[in-house]
Amino acid sequence: MRKIFIAGNWKMHKTVGEAVELARELVTALTEEKKKIMIAPPFTALNTVKEVLAESNSNILLGAQNMGPEEEGAHTGEISVKMLKDVGVSVVILGHSERRHIYNEPDDLINRKVKLALSKGLEVILCVGETLSERESGIAENVVENQLIRGIEGIAEKQLSGLTIAYEPVWAIGTGKTATPEDADKMHGFIRGLIEKKYSKKLSENITIQYGGSVKPGNVKDLMAKDNIDGALVGGASLKAETFIPIVRYDKL
Ligand code: 13P
Repeated sequence: MRKIFIAGNWKMHKTVGEAVELARELVTALTEEKKKIMIAPPFTALNTVKEVLAESNSNILLGAQNMGPEEEGAHTGEISVKMLKDVGVSVVILGHSERRHIYNEPDDLINRKVKLALSKGLEVILCVGETLSERESGIAENVVENQLIRGIEGIAEKQLSGLTIAYEPVWAIGTGKTATPEDADKMHGFIRGLIEKKYSKKLSENITIQYGGSVKPGNVKDLMAKDNIDGALVGGASLKAETFIPIVRYDKL
């Protein structure tokens, strides 16, 4: 059985004070929740949010939104894997479409980050997804295949127990347009097939694949009802307790 994994990506939102306030609300409301849950505040709030989670023994995981590809050195503006682990981060989001498209991160750079994070014991959420024009020109699967295969190039199967894949079609991010549950399920099935071909049936059956892109309390249940959708990576709706809590507790809606 794959574990359901619901994650909130706070992107470039929340001062430390605002982050603490939201983390406190989530911790209180989600104490009984058995699903795997992660929140990824901005770097500046990681340390303080970790304290909030630790104070109440919360099993909400602390995530980071990015990481540098080198272990240390003269890399102005980058954050290392060691720094993330030091403040209690256990999962890092890599290859997010905003990193790929706004900051031009190529697949080989993302691959270096994925390898480094996994080798140092951080879990990774690797994001893949096509743009609207790629979907309209019928190459969505090729794009996702390239991003995935290049992203995990050179990584042995045994290291991939720490990998979650997030399918986030770029045209559905922050736009209010969600992929239909059927379209998302189809792409997730395609991704599972790629994992089976490159590694094994066992890994393809066990790997968690999240959907991301305008997930809201109103659509999460239908998405999660699909066989190949094992969780959600939530942006906008993770910024408020009143929308993130019902997403996590979609099975009680
Ligand atoms: P939205 O939920 O705001 O569409 O963002 C999705 C996302 O990019 C999560 O990483």
